[in-house]
Amino acid sequence: MAANTVLSVRDLRIYYFTSRGAVRAVDGVSFDVGEGDVLGVAGESGSGKSTLGFGIMGLVPPPGRIVGGSIVLDGIDLTKLSEDELRKIRWSKVSMVFQGALNVLNPVVRVGDQMAEVLVIHKGLSKDEAMKIVEEHLKLVGLPPDVARRYPHELSGGMKQRVVIAMALLLRPRLVIADEPTTALDVVIQAQIMNLLKRIREEEKVSMIFITHDLSLIAEIANKVAVMYAGKIVEMGSSDDVYSQPLHPYTQGLLNSIPSIRRRKGLSWIPGSPPDLRNPPQGCRFHPRCPYAMDICRREEPPQIDVGNSHVVSCWLYAKR
Ligand SMILES: Nc1ncnc2c1ncn2[C@@H]1O[C@H](COP(=O)(O)OP(=O)(O)OP(=O)(O)O)[C@@H](O)[C@H]1O
Ligand code: SF4
Ligand SMILES: [Mg+2]
Repeated sequence: MAANTVLSVRDLRIYYFTSRGAVRAVDGVSFDVGEGDVLGVAGESGSGKSTLGFGIMGLVPPPGRIVGGSIVLDGIDLTKLSEDELRKIRWSKVSMVFQGALNVLNPVVRVGDQMAEVLVIHKGLSKDEAMKIVEEHLKLVGLPPDVARRYPHELSGGMKQRVVIAMALLLRPRLVIADEPTTALDVVIQAQIMNLLKRIREEEKVSMIFITHDLSLIAEIANKVAVMYAGKIVEMGSSDDVYSQPLHPYTQGLLNSIPSIRRRKGLSWIPGSPPDLRNPPQGCRFHPRCPYAMDICRREEPPQIDVGNSHVVSCWLYAKR
C-alpha cells in the first residue's frame, strides 16, 4: 500500500443470500484509491458496481452480506467495525451519492433543514452555525442560498442532484462514492454535473469513486479506471493506459461501443448478456461472450496479470504459459 493510499480494498466478497441461492455480486475485488485519485468503475448493469459502493459504506442491504476480504480506509478496516463505529465514519470519512439519489431527499423537509441536520447530528453544531455551512455548500455546488428554504419538489432534477452532491461533501469526507450521478439527467444538465464534479475534485482534494456504465464519462473525470464484469474487476489501470491500450476483450468491446452509448443506449452491442451471478460460468466468466475464448478459458479462472505501470488484466490471452 502506498503512503498516500486513502482506501485499500482486498479480495472483497459481497453475496446476496436469496432463497434461490447466493448471488455473488462482488467476488474477489481488490483495488486502491490514492489521495486525490478519481477511480472510475465501469461495467454493464448487474456487474456489482453499486454493491461495491454499498460495501464500502457499510450499507449492503439484506439479504446481502460481506462474506470476505477487507476495506481499509485511512488505516482502519471497515469490515471489522461495529454498526455504531461505522455510523461515525459514514458521511464524515466516506460518503455516497446514491444511484437514483434524486429521490432520497425528504419531500416534507426544507432542503436547508435536511442539510443542517447532518451537521447538527455529526458535529454538534447549533442550527445557526450549521446553516452558514449549508449556504457555503450550496454556493460550492452552484446553487443560490435561497434553495435552503425550498422543498425538494420546488427544485429541478439537476438542482436536486447538486443538493445531494453538496450533502455528500458536508462533512468533508476523504472519499466520495458517486454512483451514476448523471444518469437520470438530460444531456445538458449531465454536462453541468460533470463539470461540477471535476471542479470539486480539483478544489476540494477529495478522492472519488465514480461509478457508471458509460466509459466515456470516466474518460472525462477519472485518472484510474476499473472495469467490472460479473462481480470481478477484469482490467484496471491508469485511464491513459486503459483507453489507449485496452487489453481485456470486454474492455475492448465497451470502448468500441462508446459512440453508440453516448445517449445512454446501453451496451447491448456485445453479443449475449451478463451471467446469472448465482451460478456464473466456470473459468473466465466472460467466456460465453468472448470472441477469443480458448479451452483453458472454459476450465480455469484467468490469473491477474500486471503488464506494467499498474495496468492489470485478468485474461488468459496475456498469461505466459
Ligand atoms: N437486494 C438484492 N437481492 C438479491 N440480489 C441483488 C440485490 N441487489 C442486487 N442484487 C444482484 O447483485 C448483482 C449486482 O447488482 P448491482 O446493483 O450491484 O449492479 P450494478 O453494476 O450497480 O448494476 P446497474 O448498472 O444496473 O446499477 C446483480 O446480479 C443483482 O441482481
Ligand atoms: S480469459 Fe479467455 S474467455 Fe476470458 S476474456 Fe480472456 S480470452 Fe476471453
Ligand atoms: Mg448500480
